[in-house]
Amino acid sequence: MATRQSKLFNKHKLFERHTFVLLLGILVAVAIGGLIEIVPLFYLKNTIEKVEGMRPYTPLELAGQNIYIREGCNTCHSQMIRPLRDEVERYGHYSLAAESMYDHPFQWGSKRTGPDLARVGGKYSDDWHRDHLINPRALVPESIMPPYAFLAGRTLDLSTIQDQMRTLQFEGVPYTTPMIDAALDNTMAQAGGDYDVEALRKSYDGIAGRDGTVPVRNFDGVDGAPTELDALIAYLQMLGTLVDFKTYEAGDLSNRR
Ligand code: HEC
Repeated sequence: MATRQSKLFNKHKLFERHTFVLLLGILVAVAIGGLIEIVPLFYLKNTIEKVEGMRPYTPLELAGQNIYIREGCNTCHSQMIRPLRDEVERYGHYSLAAESMYDHPFQWGSKRTGPDLARVGGKYSDDWHRDHLINPRALVPESIMPPYAFLAGRTLDLSTIQDQMRTLQFEGVPYTTPMIDAALDNTMAQAGGDYDVEALRKSYDGIAGRDGTVPVRNFDGVDGAPTELDALIAYLQMLGTLVDFKTYEAGDLSNRR
């Protein structure tokens, strides 16, 4: 026993005394570990578990996401709830990969100056969001969030939304040509205008596979053409509401494409 131990010890000495042998040893160990992690990924068709309820964003929500990115909301807010107890208790069910599958670019974020927004949809009323965005300190006195009151006075610019949808279609987001053609009407309809609401619902609820995924109302509470505030609130109110967690079962591999 004693001799076997010292033999092993002698071999180990080789590594301890020669830097390059140690370096080679490290490289071999890391390469083996890397292969074990990476190779299986080449045999999976898709690493995103397919879940029911996901649909592409309506043009109004998409325009809202553009404003969210333009204003840098993502520098203070993450959109990814990690599967850790404190996060799940505070924000709700941990985020699924599928929930950001139509985000280009994804909004996971890397810093939380403010709270995570992945499930903020439905948490507050539209009025709350409007007042909060106009002046955060009116509702949360200790808030350090900047005010975005100017959004209320800016009419939503929809001149590039159809091109953006076409680009997203190219990236694999399931927008159809009729959906792109109807983008402007759909935006007006969702923001509470006198447009064909049924057509809007049919397209988007149809992809989601359930009714009621498209809230239709005047989000900023002001009549007239949709503003940037309308779009941003529509986007915030949708976040985290698409997957119905009452029917979702984690780890159901039969879902996998
Ligand atoms: C400088 C950092 C910062 C930026 C930029 C910022 N926020 Fe915030 N946000 C905060 C902080 C801090 C809070 C928590 C205090 C509060 O509610 O105002 C917050 C809270 C919120 C909340 C309430 C979340 C909850 O669950 O209570 C929403 C919604 C929100 N922000 C949306 C936005 C949007 C939309 C933008 C971009 C237009 C934005 N924020 C930009 C810091 C920021």
